[in-house]
Order: sequence, then structure tokens, then C-alpha cells
Amino acid sequence: MQTQRTQVVIVGGGVAGLMLSQLLHVEGIDCIILERQTRAYTEARIRAGVLEYGTVDLLRRVGVNGRMDRQGLRHEGFLLMDDGEAFRIDLHSLAGQDVMVYGQTEITIDLMDACVERGVPIVFEAADVELHDIDGAPWVSYRHDGSDHRIDCDFIAGCDGFHGVSRRTMPDAAAHCIEKVYPFGWLGILADVPPMDHELIYSNHERGFALASQRSATRSRYYIQCESSEKIEDWSDDRIWDELATRLGDDGRITRGPSLEKSIAPLRSFVCEKMQHGRLFLAGDAAHIVPPTGAKGLNLAASDVAYLADGLIGYYKRGDEAGLEGYTARALSRIWKAERFSWSMTQLTHRFPGMSVFDRKMQKADLNYIRSSPAAQTAIAENYIGLPL
Ligand code: FAD
Ligand code: DHB
Repeated sequence: MQTQRTQVVIVGGGVAGLMLSQLLHVEGIDCIILERQTRAYTEARIRAGVLEYGTVDLLRRVGVNGRMDRQGLRHEGFLLMDDGEAFRIDLHSLAGQDVMVYGQTEITIDLMDACVERGVPIVFEAADVELHDIDGAPWVSYRHDGSDHRIDCDFIAGCDGFHGVSRRTMPDAAAHCIEKVYPFGWLGILADVPPMDHELIYSNHERGFALASQRSATRSRYYIQCESSEKIEDWSDDRIWDELATRLGDDGRITRGPSLEKSIAPLRSFVCEKMQHGRLFLAGDAAHIVPPTGAKGLNLAASDVAYLADGLIGYYKRGDEAGLEGYTARALSRIWKAERFSWSMTQLTHRFPGMSVFDRKMQKADLNYIRSSPAAQTAIAENYIGLPL
């Protein structure tokens, strides 16, 4: 057994874990990241694309903003479309901020590069990670390159996503989990073709929801609502493009091309209200999931670790444990608001199986109200750009 010691062990090298490592590193707090996958695998995952301005600020605070500031796209608004009629939410004039369109894949690459340049250790392909003695003097064991390892530490940050080991280790966590599963999923496609519009379009169509997003002037990301049980093999690129053309009311603006990636993800709302126990703290998807409609998953992971870093910095720099003690309450307050927004955007834009005439009338009335009310538009805009940390 090879042993080492550090201040904070971070389980999971996704956005939450990587961002936390940098927030701690700039304050001189040591950490080691344990990631189950290879670097190539984690860098190839295609996920979220919209950054709240608070997430952009955090990346600037840790100095990992060079490429984002050069290549990211500032968006001042987005379009809500219903039965082919589009309406613009002007984020900038309603809420005074923009969002940044910059892929989670790129952030992951930038943060991993920063770890390497700054000497923050990441162990890729760390297998069988287990957390021990979280009530006392915690330590983490794992296997790597055929040998057993042990890291003793002061704290463990569980940033290992929805299927990770950390929440499973949290005593009694299951009793504090609240979940809603939606009766559909999203099929996503990435292609090297110019986006159909310079802004995002969220479309509610009788055949189901569709979203036109982008990564750059030459790379598009689109999503369509589908059944969660569907198989990606049944969706040829042509079938996806045809469906997008129908649901987005294509007037010749959609450029088709071969998919670089396509996959189906289920939609769920999930919160584990127990986010800390002893020396273990959960952050990001390890503690919660939102349906992607509000573009909040990645941004919530960032705000969680900002709160957790505040708590750890208070502990190490001032001997003040209040930030760590109050971590869950502070994080949950923001999480539930993002859950509400993501749920309400999903309700507004998706066709639910067996939807009644009344339910559809409610969607229409909701949209008409938003169209007519600057107050309602402002409520959407301030949630979309991100509530303050
Ligand atoms: P993750 O990104 O999941 O990172 C967790 C890391 O922990 C992973 O690298 C994993 O390999 C590692 N890990 C897991 N178990 C272990 C273990 N036992 N030991 C060590 N390491 C471990 N959000 C949006 O806003 N828009 C989207 O379009 C969107 N699409 C998504 C598509 C998919 C398929 C998924 C899964 C999520 C999507 N999300 C989207 C959500 C968003 O990507 C997440 O909210 C965000 O990735 C959360 O970051 P995280 O670091 O908490 O978790
Ligand atoms: C993207 C994903 C979202 O869930 C969303 O609401 C907006 C954009 C994207 O991947 O580009």
C-alpha cells in the first residue's frame, strides 16, 4: 500500500472537481483529484454549453479564462418558440447580463491544462475509490496501475457525479433524496455545420421539444425530445435532421452534416438534501440533477464548489468553521431555485405524453403571459443569466 497525505481529496475530475481544485490551489490549499476515467475519455464527453456570468467570473477568478474569452460566444438573448411563433427574451436589457456559450468539453480541457501547469495532481484511472472514517480522520483508498493506494486528508469533496461513490458513502443519504423522473429524454447531436441562428432557440412543437444550440460559428449542437427508452441506433443522422427541420420550422436555415456525436439522456430532477457529513461534502451532480432545459447543471456544479471553497478557505485561513457548517443550507437555497427554473422551463416547452387539452391551454396561456409581461420576461431572464452566488 502506497500512502500520501494532502489537505483535500477531490473525488471526480469533472467540472465540479476541477474547478474546486483551482479555487483551492490559488489560495495555497493542497488537494489531489481522483478520476475514474482516462483524460481522453473525460475530454471527449459532450455535455452542457451555456455558462452563467457567475460561472464565467469564477473561471476568471482562477485565471482559467484565456481561451474562453477568445473563443466563447456572448449571447444577449434567446428565442422561445411555440407552434412556430418565436419570441425573444432579451437577457441583456431585462437582467443586465449576458451568458457565454462555451462547451463544457472546452472548460474541462482548460481546467485540466491548468492542473498540469500548476502542479495540481490528478490521478486518472483511479479504480475502486472508497472513502473511510469520514467522521474522524478521513482517508481515501483506490487502485492504480495494479497497486493499492491510500491518501490521508482533512476533508473529502465528493464531486463524482450522479453515479459516483461519494453519495453512496454518505450515511442515510437515500432518506434525504427527492426525485422526479420525466416521461421523456433528450437526443443530442453535434455537427460541424454553422448554427441556424446567432442565438439559441427553444421550440415547443406538436411533435415535441427541440433546441437549436451551438459551440462556435461552425459547430452546432441540437437536441430533440424523444422517449427515454429509445435507442440511438434507431436515429440515423437523416432522421434527426428531418425531425429538427420540422420542430424548428426550418426555412432553409438548418445546415445538415454528419454527426460528430449523438446520444440520448433521460431527464430528471433530483436533490440529495444531505450534502455533508463529518468531513465529507458533496458538490455538483453528486448531490443534484436538473433537467437540461434551463442550462443549469454545469452552473450549479460551479456555484456549489464556490461555496465549498469559501468554507474550506475560511477553515484554513481564519480557523473559522462557519462556512463549512453552513455549506448545505447555502447551497440548497440556490439549488432549489435552479430546480424550480429548470422544471418550469421543461413544463413550458415540452409535450408530455397524454397531455390534456387543458394542460396545453395552460402552456399557451403561460407563453402568452410571458409575451405580454416585461415582469414575466424579467423573471425568466434573471434565472437564465444565473441567480447571484
Ligand atoms: P460530472 O461532470 O459527472 O463529473 C463527475 C466525474 O466523476 C466524472 O469525470 C466521472 O468520471 C468521475 N467519477 C464518477 N465516479 C467516480 C468514482 N467512483 N471515482 C472517481 N471518479 C469518479 N447540463 C446542461 O446544462 N446542458 C446539457 O446539455 C447537459 N447535457 C448532459 C448530458 C449528459 C449525458 C450528462 C450526464 C449531463 C449533462 N448535463 C447537461 C449536466 C451537466 O453536464 C452536469 O450537471 C455537470 O457535468 C456536472 O458536473 P460534475 O462535475 O458535478 O459531474
Ligand atoms: C445546451 C444545453 C442546454 O441544456 C441548454 O439549455 C442550452 C444549451 C447546449 O448543450 O448547448
